[in-house]
Amino acid sequence: MTIKHAEFIISVAAAAQLPKDNLPQIAFCGRSNVGKSSLINALLNRRGLAKTSNSPGKTRLLNFFRITPAESIYPPFYFVDLPGYGYAKVSQTEREAWRQLIESYLQNSPRLCGAFALIDSRHGPQKNDLDLLAWLAHVRQRVAVVATKADKLSAQQRAARQREIAVALQHLPVTDLIFYSSLTALGKKELWQQIREFLVREK
Ligand code: GTP
Ligand code: MG
Repeated sequence: MTIKHAEFIISVAAAAQLPKDNLPQIAFCGRSNVGKSSLINALLNRRGLAKTSNSPGKTRLLNFFRITPAESIYPPFYFVDLPGYGYAKVSQTEREAWRQLIESYLQNSPRLCGAFALIDSRHGPQKNDLDLLAWLAHVRQRVAVVATKADKLSAQQRAARQREIAVALQHLPVTDLIFYSSLTALGKKELWQQIREFLVREK
């Protein structure tokens, strides 16, 4: 897909502030520091559009980016950068607020047409990743898993890790498992392919 335009629209701290236009939305979820914001920038070839950081917990709000494809067969749509979970250094109260924001968004967004669940390819899915995936399955949200930072693995390690992750996910309705790196072009084509499928097979 060729992108004509991509821009940051709004950061949202509560479900009441969600954009009210009717554009389809694609969400990126995963632990803090897994690479959600970097992935959005790399997909759009826009360094710095989504704020990234070495310190986990950078994205604390739902950030909406409006994307206008060049080809008119695709509608304009949103990428939604979700706040990361699993960051140890936040208080229980803050963690609970994040959980409620993410859950209420994922549950109450009729225009959400697909989600990418990001996991770190070096560690595979952690307990809270599996909880999120189970929850996405429960609300019948279409989801593809992205194994990030794949540049940190050799081709051989990647193949082994792919089998392990596939086993860990075998009982979950995941449409795809994509090994991805924001530093190399690995997985980028597959991600765009999945995005097109989310958009054309919209609910
Ligand atoms: P939160 O906003 O805290 O939830 O984090 P995030 O998931 O948005 O992570 P972010 O994109 O900010 O990236 C976190 C760190 O991982 C940064 O230091 C990035 O440079 C690094 N990183 C992201 N993607 C990759 C990748 O594909 N390969 C490598 N080697 N590093 C990456
Ligand atoms: Mg982020």
